[in-house]
Amino acid sequence: MKNNINNYPNYLAEKVNKHVQRCEDLGGRNPLHGLTATASSVKFISNDYLSLANHPAIIEAQRKVLDDSDNLIIMSSIYMHGDNPQQRFETRMADFMRSDEAVLCQSGYNANIGLIQSIVEHTNAPVYIDMMAHMSLWDGTKFSTSPVYPFRHNNIDHLMSLIERHGSGLVIVDSVYSTNGSVCPLKALVEAAYDKGCILLVDESHSLGTHGPQGRGMVVDYGLQDKVMFRTASLAKAFAGRAGIVACPAGFADYFKCTGNPAIFSSALLPYEIAGLDKTLDLIITADERRERLHSNAAYLRRALSELGYNTSVSSSQIIGLEVGTEKQTTVLKDVLEARDVFGSVFCAPATAKNRALMRLSVNSYLTMDELRYVIGVFRDIREEVGLDQWRSTQKQTNMLPLCVA
Ligand SMILES: Cc1ncc(COP(=O)(O)O)c(C=O)c1O
Repeated sequence: MKNNINNYPNYLAEKVNKHVQRCEDLGGRNPLHGLTATASSVKFISNDYLSLANHPAIIEAQRKVLDDSDNLIIMSSIYMHGDNPQQRFETRMADFMRSDEAVLCQSGYNANIGLIQSIVEHTNAPVYIDMMAHMSLWDGTKFSTSPVYPFRHNNIDHLMSLIERHGSGLVIVDSVYSTNGSVCPLKALVEAAYDKGCILLVDESHSLGTHGPQGRGMVVDYGLQDKVMFRTASLAKAFAGRAGIVACPAGFADYFKCTGNPAIFSSALLPYEIAGLDKTLDLIITADERRERLHSNAAYLRRALSELGYNTSVSSSQIIGLEVGTEKQTTVLKDVLEARDVFGSVFCAPATAKNRALMRLSVNSYLTMDELRYVIGVFRDIREEVGLDQWRSTQKQTNMLPLCVA
């Protein structure tokens, strides 16, 4: 590719050069790129946790609407009113999530930035956010006109001490953290923050569809829906689509649609996409067997990796994050796995802190026992080749050993 970097103004050339240098340091490659997975590869790269993507019933529902789309209007959802497919799906999602109202957004990213903007812009209420919260939540806090206080990951005491000092405000957490699969101590955290007069936003992207009765999510599982004012979720995970959802209290949806920038300044989903999501919801409600398989697959793999010496201690969900350390070390792992037809996702800056790069394995319900056994065999055989004893997470584990023994 032709590089016109010399024509860039200095401030931009510097930034682009930094990226080029980063790739050069890795032998001229982008750390996220490598081989391409094929149909027979063992894949941990998709967030389609319940293996619903391409389900014939979803495709059929989409096709039916595409065939009948003779009055397709492409516009922002702010203009939608009366009875329409989006409104009907939102009513179903509110019922599913046990909330008063729900709003469909173009993505989980838009749901988070739009929602946080509509809550915090032009207010003086402080915002508290878990340090490992998803980037879309952090980006939403950029709309805050009052201070944003990050608290240590899953640390309720730290959160409480900040609230004590700065007053009640908006508390933002993920139910399941997307990089390493750690789970929020949701019940204790919500109750403590609620008692302090805070309002809560829980991002359920990695628990909606996979956790709780009929997949209604972790907030419903713990019966916390009356204490958690707002929930968001990407519908590009268990819902296997391209959308996001906000669950909110009565009277909020219309306000949100008229104030959140993504609803005003970006076009709404198309009817066939909504038809697909609507059918997916039917499938999710009845997917207990898939949920069971997902969680038993994840528990099996976590346990086996841990027995082989991999530090999986922070994960207690379908996401297993193996913290390797530098980007270079992590690309070694990626290449070694891909050479054996196993695919995971590299997470590095800005998704993680520098030198805390990791390999994320997203477990799915469709993984067979044979595939899991194969992968465990691969991880057993490659420990030396990938320098497991030099990994940041291994050294942390080793440093902790005397404490554990004591
Ligand atoms: C926790 C969390 N929130 C929000 C998002 C954004 O979702 P989407 O891909 O639908 O924009 C993601 C996806 O990466 C996520 O993991």
